[in-house]
Amino acid sequence: MDVFEVDGQEVLIVHVEGGEIRAYDPVCPHQDHPLIEGEFENCILTCSAHLWQFNAISGKGVNPEGVSLNAYPAKVENDHVYAVLPANN
Ligand code: FES
Repeated sequence: MDVFEVDGQEVLIVHVEGGEIRAYDPVCPHQDHPLIEGEFENCILTCSAHLWQFNAISGKGVNPEGVSLNAYPAKVENDHVYAVLPANN
């Protein structure tokens, strides 16, 4: 996983199974800790602050459940990654 900046906005890009990617808000929905400082293993993204865990494919919370990462539409096309970020106000 990596964080990229596009027009002043950061996006977390995660490579999941089968060459697919996901794009997420790069901060944890718990207390806005940078997710890039966490661990990514077996498709589980673990925030380093309080160890909340998320399924990197669905973005849904594994521990705890009922929470989710803020996902952005994303795709890979011709070796380029495209993500649709929210309007930057
Ligand atoms: Fe991520 Fe608390 S800020 S688990």
